[in-house]
Amino acid sequence: MKTRRWFVDSSAELSTNNPQITQAAELLQQNEVVAFPTETVYGLGANAENTEAVAKIYEAKGRPSDNPLIVHISDIGQLDRIISYIPETAEKLMREFWPGALTLVLPCKPGMLSPRVTAGLSTVAIRMPDHPVALSVIRSAGLPIAAPSANLSGKPSPTKAEHVAHDLNGRIAGIVDGGPTGIGVESTVLSCTGEQPVLLRPGGVTKEQIEAIAGPILVDKGLTEDDEIPISPGMKYTHYAPSAPLAIAEGGAARIQELADGYKRQGKRIGILTTEENAGLYHADFIKVCGKRADLETVASSLYDALRSFDEAEVDMIISESFPDTGVGLAVMNRLMKAAGGTVIR
Ligand code: TXA
Ligand code: MG
Repeated sequence: MKTRRWFVDSSAELSTNNPQITQAAELLQQNEVVAFPTETVYGLGANAENTEAVAKIYEAKGRPSDNPLIVHISDIGQLDRIISYIPETAEKLMREFWPGALTLVLPCKPGMLSPRVTAGLSTVAIRMPDHPVALSVIRSAGLPIAAPSANLSGKPSPTKAEHVAHDLNGRIAGIVDGGPTGIGVESTVLSCTGEQPVLLRPGGVTKEQIEAIAGPILVDKGLTEDDEIPISPGMKYTHYAPSAPLAIAEGGAARIQELADGYKRQGKRIGILTTEENAGLYHADFIKVCGKRADLETVASSLYDALRSFDEAEVDMIISESFPDTGVGLAVMNRLMKAAGGTVIR
Protein backbone atom coordinates (compact mmCIF):
# COMPACT_ATOMS: atom_id res chain seq x y z
CA MET A 1 0.00 0.00 0.00
CA LYS A 2 1.28 3.47 -0.85
CA THR A 3 1.16 5.70 2.23
CA ARG A 4 0.15 9.27 1.39
CA ARG A 5 1.74 12.13 3.32
CA TRP A 6 0.15 15.54 3.83
CA PHE A 7 1.90 18.52 5.43
CA VAL A 8 -0.23 20.82 7.55
CA ASP A 9 1.00 23.86 9.45
CA SER A 10 -0.32 23.28 12.98
CA SER A 11 0.29 26.87 14.03
CA ALA A 12 -1.74 28.43 11.21
CA GLU A 13 -5.50 28.88 11.20
CA LEU A 14 -7.01 25.78 9.54
CA SER A 15 -9.87 26.48 7.15
CA THR A 16 -12.82 24.06 7.26
CA ASN A 17 -12.11 22.99 3.70
CA ASN A 18 -8.36 22.58 4.02
CA PRO A 19 -7.62 20.12 1.17
CA GLN A 20 -5.09 18.02 3.14
CA ILE A 21 -7.47 17.58 6.06
CA THR A 22 -10.37 16.85 3.71
CA GLN A 23 -8.43 14.11 1.91
CA ALA A 24 -7.40 12.51 5.21
CA ALA A 25 -11.00 12.67 6.47
CA GLU A 26 -12.31 11.11 3.26
CA LEU A 27 -9.99 8.14 3.68
CA LEU A 28 -11.28 7.71 7.26
CA GLN A 29 -14.85 7.75 5.91
CA GLN A 30 -13.79 5.03 3.46
CA ASN A 31 -12.70 2.94 6.48
CA GLU A 32 -8.98 3.36 5.83
CA VAL A 33 -6.45 4.12 8.62
CA VAL A 34 -4.73 7.50 8.77
CA ALA A 35 -2.16 8.82 11.25
CA PHE A 36 -2.47 12.38 12.59
CA PRO A 37 -0.83 14.48 15.31
CA THR A 38 -2.40 15.08 18.72
CA GLU A 39 -0.96 17.14 21.57
CA THR A 40 0.41 13.95 23.19
CA VAL A 41 1.66 11.60 20.46
CA TYR A 42 0.67 10.77 16.87
CA GLY A 43 -2.48 8.64 16.70
CA LEU A 44 -3.42 5.98 14.14
CA GLY A 45 -7.06 6.74 13.43
CA ALA A 46 -9.94 4.71 12.03
CA ASN A 47 -13.75 4.88 12.01
CA ALA A 48 -14.66 3.56 15.49
CA GLU A 49 -18.09 2.42 14.27
CA ASN A 50 -16.73 0.07 11.62
CA THR A 51 -15.10 -3.24 12.49
CA GLU A 52 -13.28 -3.60 9.19
CA ALA A 53 -11.69 -0.17 9.73
CA VAL A 54 -10.73 -0.91 13.34
CA ALA A 55 -9.26 -4.28 12.36
CA LYS A 56 -6.83 -2.40 10.08
CA ILE A 57 -5.41 -0.55 13.11
CA TYR A 58 -4.61 -3.80 14.93
CA GLU A 59 -3.14 -5.27 11.75
CA ALA A 60 -0.95 -2.26 10.90
CA LYS A 61 0.44 -2.01 14.45
CA GLY A 62 0.65 -5.73 15.18
CA ARG A 63 -1.32 -4.94 18.32
CA PRO A 64 -2.74 -7.70 20.59
CA SER A 65 -6.51 -7.74 20.12
CA ASP A 66 -7.39 -7.77 23.83
CA ASN A 67 -6.00 -4.25 24.15
CA PRO A 68 -8.88 -1.76 23.62
CA LEU A 69 -8.51 1.57 21.85
CA ILE A 70 -9.22 5.19 22.82
CA VAL A 71 -12.08 6.83 20.93
CA HIS A 72 -11.34 10.44 19.93
CA ILE A 73 -14.07 13.02 19.53
CA SER A 74 -14.03 16.65 18.40
CA ASP A 75 -17.31 17.78 19.95
CA ILE A 76 -19.13 17.02 23.20
CA GLY A 77 -22.30 16.34 21.18
CA GLN A 78 -20.73 13.09 19.91
CA LEU A 79 -20.81 11.59 23.42
CA ASP A 80 -24.55 10.92 23.40
CA ARG A 81 -24.31 8.24 20.74
CA ILE A 82 -21.50 6.40 22.51
CA ILE A 83 -21.90 6.74 26.30
CA SER A 84 -24.85 5.38 28.30
CA TYR A 85 -24.45 7.96 31.08
CA ILE A 86 -21.90 10.48 32.30
CA PRO A 87 -21.01 10.26 36.00
CA GLU A 88 -20.86 13.65 37.76
CA THR A 89 -17.12 13.53 38.42
CA ALA A 90 -16.47 12.70 34.78
CA GLU A 91 -18.50 15.71 33.72
CA LYS A 92 -16.47 18.01 35.98
CA LEU A 93 -13.23 16.57 34.61
CA MET A 94 -14.36 17.02 31.01
CA ARG A 95 -15.26 20.63 31.68
CA GLU A 96 -11.81 21.24 33.17
CA PHE A 97 -9.51 19.18 30.96
CA TRP A 98 -11.18 18.75 27.54
CA PRO A 99 -9.90 19.25 25.00
CA GLY A 100 -6.78 17.77 26.55
CA ALA A 101 -4.63 14.82 27.56
CA LEU A 102 -7.17 13.13 29.81
CA THR A 103 -8.91 9.93 28.65
CA LEU A 104 -11.99 8.90 30.60
CA VAL A 105 -13.22 5.31 30.77
CA LEU A 106 -17.02 5.48 30.77
CA PRO A 107 -19.97 3.10 30.41
CA CYS A 108 -20.49 2.33 26.75
CA LYS A 109 -23.81 2.28 24.88
CA PRO A 110 -24.09 -1.20 23.42
CA GLY A 111 -24.10 -1.65 19.67
CA MET A 112 -22.81 1.77 18.63
CA LEU A 113 -19.07 1.21 18.35
CA SER A 114 -17.29 -1.72 16.78
CA PRO A 115 -16.77 -4.34 19.52
CA ARG A 116 -13.12 -4.41 18.46
CA VAL A 117 -12.68 -0.88 19.83
CA THR A 118 -13.61 -1.93 23.36
CA ALA A 119 -12.16 -5.44 23.07
CA GLY A 120 -15.50 -6.72 24.32
CA LEU A 121 -15.59 -4.59 27.52
CA SER A 122 -18.79 -2.76 28.55
CA THR A 123 -16.78 0.44 28.95
CA VAL A 124 -15.06 2.70 26.46
CA ALA A 125 -12.08 5.05 26.77
CA ILE A 126 -12.78 8.51 25.31
CA ARG A 127 -10.89 11.73 24.86
CA MET A 128 -11.06 15.03 23.01
CA PRO A 129 -7.53 15.89 21.86
CA ASP A 130 -6.24 19.44 22.19
CA HIS A 131 -4.63 19.75 18.78
CA PRO A 132 -6.02 21.79 15.88
CA VAL A 133 -5.11 19.15 13.26
CA ALA A 134 -6.60 16.24 15.24
CA LEU A 135 -9.78 18.20 15.91
CA SER A 136 -10.20 19.22 12.25
CA VAL A 137 -9.58 15.71 10.97
CA ILE A 138 -12.17 14.25 13.36
CA ARG A 139 -14.69 17.02 12.71
CA SER A 140 -14.23 16.77 8.97
CA ALA A 141 -14.70 12.97 9.05
CA GLY A 142 -17.81 13.44 11.20
CA LEU A 143 -17.10 10.17 13.03
CA PRO A 144 -15.81 8.99 16.38
CA ILE A 145 -12.21 8.01 15.64
CA ALA A 146 -10.49 5.10 17.38
CA ALA A 147 -6.79 5.92 17.66
CA PRO A 148 -3.96 4.23 19.50
CA SER A 149 -0.46 5.63 19.20
CA ALA A 150 0.78 5.34 15.61
CA ASN A 151 3.78 3.08 16.26
CA LEU A 152 4.46 -0.61 15.74
CA SER A 153 3.30 -2.40 18.87
CA GLY A 154 6.07 -2.48 21.50
CA LYS A 155 8.03 0.47 20.04
CA PRO A 156 8.14 3.98 21.55
CA SER A 157 5.12 6.09 20.62
CA PRO A 158 5.68 8.54 17.75
CA THR A 159 6.13 12.21 18.55
CA LYS A 160 7.12 13.15 14.98
CA ALA A 161 5.65 12.17 11.60
CA GLU A 162 9.06 10.65 10.74
CA HIS A 163 8.59 8.15 13.60
CA VAL A 164 5.22 7.13 12.15
CA ALA A 165 6.69 6.78 8.67
CA HIS A 166 9.60 4.72 10.03
CA ASP A 167 7.24 2.21 11.65
CA LEU A 168 4.19 2.21 9.37
CA ASN A 169 5.10 3.35 5.85
CA GLY A 170 3.42 1.01 3.36
CA ARG A 171 1.09 -0.36 6.07
CA ILE A 172 -1.38 2.56 6.35
CA ALA A 173 -3.28 4.82 3.93
CA GLY A 174 -1.82 8.15 5.04
CA ILE A 175 0.03 10.37 7.50
CA VAL A 176 -0.97 13.94 8.28
CA ASP A 177 2.34 15.58 9.19
CA GLY A 178 1.66 18.47 11.56
CA GLY A 179 5.15 18.69 13.04
CA PRO A 180 6.28 17.43 16.44
CA THR A 181 3.68 16.83 19.16
CA GLY A 182 3.94 18.86 22.38
CA ILE A 183 3.41 16.85 25.55
CA GLY A 184 5.27 13.79 24.29
CA VAL A 185 3.72 11.11 26.53
CA GLU A 186 0.22 9.72 26.04
CA SER A 187 -2.92 10.91 27.74
CA THR A 188 -3.76 9.99 31.31
CA VAL A 189 -6.32 7.16 31.44
CA LEU A 190 -8.83 7.48 34.30
CA SER A 191 -11.66 5.06 34.94
CA CYS A 192 -14.87 6.81 35.98
CA THR A 193 -17.17 3.81 36.15
CA GLY A 194 -17.01 3.12 39.91
CA GLU A 195 -17.52 5.02 43.18
CA GLN A 196 -14.11 6.71 43.01
CA PRO A 197 -12.06 7.41 39.87
CA VAL A 198 -9.11 5.07 39.29
CA LEU A 199 -5.89 6.11 37.55
CA LEU A 200 -5.14 3.38 35.00
CA ARG A 201 -2.29 5.07 33.11
CA PRO A 202 -0.38 8.20 34.18
CA GLY A 203 0.00 10.72 31.35
CA GLY A 204 -0.15 14.32 30.20
CA VAL A 205 -2.66 15.50 32.81
CA THR A 206 -1.13 14.87 36.23
CA LYS A 207 -2.65 13.04 39.20
CA GLU A 208 -2.25 16.26 41.19
CA GLN A 209 -4.25 18.23 38.59
CA ILE A 210 -7.03 15.63 38.59
CA GLU A 211 -7.23 15.51 42.38
CA ALA A 212 -7.53 19.29 42.54
CA ILE A 213 -10.84 18.90 40.65
CA ALA A 214 -12.11 15.44 41.61
CA GLY A 215 -10.69 14.95 45.11
CA PRO A 216 -8.61 11.87 46.01
CA ILE A 217 -8.44 9.21 43.31
CA LEU A 218 -7.31 5.60 43.46
CA VAL A 219 -4.29 4.28 41.59
CA ASP A 220 -4.57 0.94 39.80
CA LYS A 221 -2.44 -1.51 41.80
CA GLY A 222 -1.06 -2.87 38.55
CA LEU A 223 0.85 0.38 38.13
CA THR A 224 2.68 0.17 41.43
CA GLU A 225 2.93 -3.50 42.36
CA ASP A 226 4.83 -6.03 40.29
CA ASP A 227 2.55 -9.00 40.86
CA GLU A 228 -0.74 -7.26 40.10
CA ILE A 229 -2.30 -7.45 36.64
CA PRO A 230 -3.26 -3.94 35.50
CA ILE A 231 -6.97 -3.14 34.95
CA SER A 232 -6.06 -1.25 31.78
CA PRO A 233 -5.26 -4.11 29.41
CA GLY A 234 -2.57 -2.17 27.55
CA MET A 235 -0.42 -1.68 30.62
CA LYS A 236 0.65 -5.32 30.92
CA TYR A 237 2.69 -5.45 27.72
CA THR A 238 6.33 -4.51 27.25
CA HIS A 239 6.23 -1.15 25.57
CA TYR A 240 8.24 1.77 24.34
CA ALA A 241 11.32 -0.42 24.10
CA PRO A 242 14.43 0.41 22.09
CA SER A 243 16.17 -2.61 20.53
CA ALA A 244 19.03 -2.68 23.07
CA PRO A 245 18.31 -3.59 26.71
CA LEU A 246 17.70 -0.58 28.92
CA ALA A 247 18.36 -0.28 32.66
CA ILE A 248 17.33 2.59 34.91
CA ALA A 249 20.10 3.42 37.37
CA GLU A 250 19.68 5.18 40.67
CA GLY A 251 22.46 6.69 42.74
CA GLY A 252 23.67 9.59 40.61
CA ALA A 253 26.09 10.26 37.78
CA ALA A 254 29.20 8.73 39.34
CA ARG A 255 27.38 5.44 39.87
CA ILE A 256 26.02 5.47 36.30
CA GLN A 257 29.50 6.11 34.88
CA GLU A 258 30.86 3.23 36.95
CA LEU A 259 28.18 0.92 35.53
CA ALA A 260 28.88 2.14 32.01
CA ASP A 261 32.61 1.48 32.46
CA GLY A 262 31.81 -2.03 33.69
CA TYR A 263 29.78 -2.85 30.57
CA LYS A 264 32.43 -1.21 28.40
CA ARG A 265 35.05 -3.60 29.79
CA GLN A 266 32.80 -6.45 28.58
CA GLY A 267 33.24 -4.99 25.07
CA LYS A 268 29.78 -3.44 24.84
CA ARG A 269 28.78 -0.21 23.10
CA ILE A 270 27.09 1.88 25.76
CA GLY A 271 24.37 4.54 25.50
CA ILE A 272 23.41 6.86 28.35
CA LEU A 273 20.07 8.67 28.61
CA THR A 274 20.60 11.87 30.56
CA THR A 275 19.50 15.48 30.91
CA GLU A 276 21.01 18.88 30.05
CA GLU A 277 22.22 19.35 33.62
CA ASN A 278 24.20 16.09 33.73
CA ALA A 279 25.29 15.46 30.13
CA GLY A 280 28.82 16.77 30.72
CA LEU A 281 29.43 14.31 33.54
CA TYR A 282 29.55 11.20 31.33
CA HIS A 283 31.72 9.60 28.71
CA ALA A 284 30.15 6.79 26.68
CA ASP A 285 29.73 5.69 23.04
CA PHE A 286 26.45 7.58 22.74
CA ILE A 287 25.04 10.16 25.13
CA LYS A 288 21.46 11.30 24.57
CA VAL A 289 20.14 14.42 26.26
CA CYS A 290 16.45 14.28 27.03
CA GLY A 291 15.23 17.66 28.27
CA LYS A 292 16.01 19.41 31.55
CA ARG A 293 15.76 17.64 34.88
CA ALA A 294 14.55 20.90 36.44
CA ASP A 295 11.56 20.87 34.05
CA LEU A 296 10.11 17.37 33.69
CA GLU A 297 7.76 18.52 30.93
CA THR A 298 10.78 18.92 28.65
CA VAL A 299 11.84 15.36 29.54
CA ALA A 300 8.36 14.01 28.68
CA SER A 301 8.37 15.93 25.43
CA SER A 302 11.59 14.39 24.12
CA LEU A 303 11.53 10.97 25.84
CA TYR A 304 10.28 8.81 22.94
CA ASP A 305 12.49 10.51 20.37
CA ALA A 306 15.43 9.91 22.71
CA LEU A 307 14.53 6.21 23.13
CA ARG A 308 14.28 5.81 19.36
CA SER A 309 17.66 7.45 18.82
CA PHE A 310 19.45 4.56 20.56
CA ASP A 311 18.38 2.22 17.74
CA GLU A 312 20.22 4.35 15.17
CA ALA A 313 23.25 4.64 17.46
CA GLU A 314 23.44 0.82 17.50
CA VAL A 315 24.39 0.51 21.13
CA ASP A 316 24.36 -2.83 22.98
CA MET A 317 23.23 -1.49 26.34
CA ILE A 318 21.44 1.67 27.52
CA ILE A 319 21.60 3.14 31.01
CA SER A 320 19.09 5.82 31.93
CA GLU A 321 18.96 8.25 34.80
CA SER A 322 15.91 7.99 37.04
CA PHE A 323 13.36 10.80 37.56
CA PRO A 324 11.13 11.94 40.42
CA ASP A 325 7.59 10.58 40.11
CA THR A 326 5.79 13.85 40.76
CA GLY A 327 3.73 15.73 38.15
CA VAL A 328 4.38 14.46 34.64
CA GLY A 329 7.40 12.61 36.12
CA LEU A 330 4.95 9.84 37.11
CA ALA A 331 4.22 9.22 33.41
CA VAL A 332 7.90 9.55 32.44
CA MET A 333 8.95 6.93 35.02
CA ASN A 334 6.02 4.64 34.08
CA ARG A 335 7.12 4.65 30.42
CA LEU A 336 10.82 4.33 31.24
CA MET A 337 10.09 1.37 33.54
CA LYS A 338 8.17 -0.33 30.72
CA ALA A 339 10.93 0.38 28.24
CA ALA A 340 13.36 -1.15 30.74
CA GLY A 341 11.13 -4.17 31.34
CA GLY A 342 11.28 -3.17 35.02
CA THR A 343 15.10 -3.31 35.29
CA VAL A 344 16.28 -0.85 37.93
CA ILE A 345 19.85 -0.88 39.24
CA ARG A 346 19.88 0.45 42.80
O1 TXA B 1 -2.41 10.17 24.14
C1 TXA B 1 -3.05 9.16 23.83
O2 TXA B 1 -3.90 8.66 24.59
C2 TXA B 1 -2.79 8.53 22.47
C3 TXA B 1 -3.17 9.55 21.40
C4 TXA B 1 -3.07 9.00 20.00
O3 TXA B 1 -4.45 10.05 21.66
N1 TXA B 1 -3.52 7.30 22.31
C5 TXA B 1 -3.16 6.18 22.99
O4 TXA B 1 -3.97 5.10 22.75
O5 TXA B 1 -2.23 6.12 23.75
P1 TXA B 1 -3.56 3.60 23.09
O6 TXA B 1 -4.57 2.79 22.39
O7 TXA B 1 -2.14 3.35 22.74
O8 TXA B 1 -3.78 3.47 24.61
C6 TXA B 1 -5.05 3.13 25.13
C7 TXA B 1 -4.92 2.78 26.60
C8 TXA B 1 -4.41 1.39 26.79
O9 TXA B 1 -3.59 1.31 27.94
C9 TXA B 1 -5.72 0.61 26.97
O10 TXA B 1 -5.53 -0.58 27.65
C10 TXA B 1 -6.56 1.61 27.75
O11 TXA B 1 -6.23 2.86 27.19
N2 TXA B 1 -8.00 1.39 27.56
C11 TXA B 1 -8.74 1.56 26.46
N3 TXA B 1 -10.03 1.24 26.66
C12 TXA B 1 -10.12 0.85 27.95
C13 TXA B 1 -11.19 0.41 28.77
N4 TXA B 1 -12.42 0.29 28.30
N5 TXA B 1 -10.90 0.11 30.07
C14 TXA B 1 -9.64 0.25 30.55
N6 TXA B 1 -8.59 0.67 29.82
C15 TXA B 1 -8.82 0.97 28.53
MG1 MG C 1 0.40 2.99 22.51
